[in-house]
Formats: sequence, structure tokens, C-alpha cells
Amino acid sequence: MTKVKIAILASGSGSNAESILKWAANSDVAEVVCVLSDKRKALVLERAKNNNVPALAVSKKKNEDRTYFEQRMIANLEGYRPDWIVLAGFMKLLGPHFLKAYDKKIINIHPSLLPLFPGIDGYGDAYRANVAESGCTIHYVNAGMDTGEIIAQKKFALISGESFEELKERGLAIENKFYPEVLEKLFKDML
Ligand code: GRF
Repeated sequence: MTKVKIAILASGSGSNAESILKWAANSDVAEVVCVLSDKRKALVLERAKNNNVPALAVSKKKNEDRTYFEQRMIANLEGYRPDWIVLAGFMKLLGPHFLKAYDKKIINIHPSLLPLFPGIDGYGDAYRANVAESGCTIHYVNAGMDTGEIIAQKKFALISGESFEELKERGLAIENKFYPEVLEKLFKDML
């Protein structure tokens, strides 16, 4: 059976990327063809190499136009022919050029129950707002900041007395389990 080919884009530690790599290594529906980071020293690139997946670093040059930067990302990805782009802590907003190249084929995970708390600090915003529950959202990517169509959400209650670091760690562990589960179901339904 032909598997769905995924490219992961990530900027940081890559715990979600790691869980996707581990899942895909044993999945009948998907394979990770490469991991691309805009940060040369990102731990996620080491994780890719350790999982025997090509690791690509494409960083944005100073004053480089976003279209050129995205063109370089696309050129690097092209050789691996990904069907889907999976964002896992990729910290740049994607522009029209990249969105067009992978039209409606880009997925992201966000650390809040969207539409609540979009932006870079979902858990922090939820923690400071003292809400009863937080969670994560897996969604399609459009030109907005975390505004694309929602695919799935996972809620969890905030624990009284919990520190922000504890909340974030707990949230991330939930994300790491949830992201591969949702991808497996999504791609299975497409085959
Ligand atoms: C996660 O909280 C994810 O939801 C957000 O960025 C974080 C990335 O963490 N988009 P990691 O690099 O996967 O550990």
C-alpha cells in the first residue's frame, strides 16, 4: 500500500516531531520523508538524524524577503516529494507562497483550545487567565494566526496549585500522544 508522505517542519526541541517519527516508523498509512527546521541548531534536527530521516536546515537570511525564504524551503522539500506538511512547533507564520505550494495540505498543532488563546504562548495565556481547562488543537493551516479549520481537540483540566512549568509539561505529553493518533486516523480515512 502506498503511504502518505509527510514532511515535518519544526523550530525547536521537537518532542512532537519525535513522537510523529516514532509513530510513522511503524505505521501502515504514513512515512516521514524529511524534517526541515528554520533553526540550524534545533534539537529536532538531531532527532531526525537519530531516527534515520533526512534533516534539512533552511534558515531565513537577514532582510530576506519571505517569498524567497519560502521558495528555498520549497526547493529543499521538493526532492522528498511530501504529500503533507506537518508543523510541530514551527515558529514562523507561513505566507501565500508556501500555502499555495501545499494548498490545504498543511497541518499544525497549537497548545490551546482554539479559538481561545492563539499566538505563541497558548499554555501561558491559559495559565494567566486562570481558566478551568486547557488543551491542544490540531488544525489545517491558512494565512491567519491559528485560524484554520479545526481537525481535532483534546481538553484537560487545570490542576489547582500546579505551576506553569508543570502545566506545560503535562500539556506537551498529551500533545505528543494525541498528534500521531489524529494523523493516523486522518490519513487512514484518505487512503
Ligand atoms: C508545542 O506546544 C506545540 O503545540 C506548539 O509548539 C510546541 C512545540 O513543542 N506549536 P515541541 O518542539 O514539539 O516539543
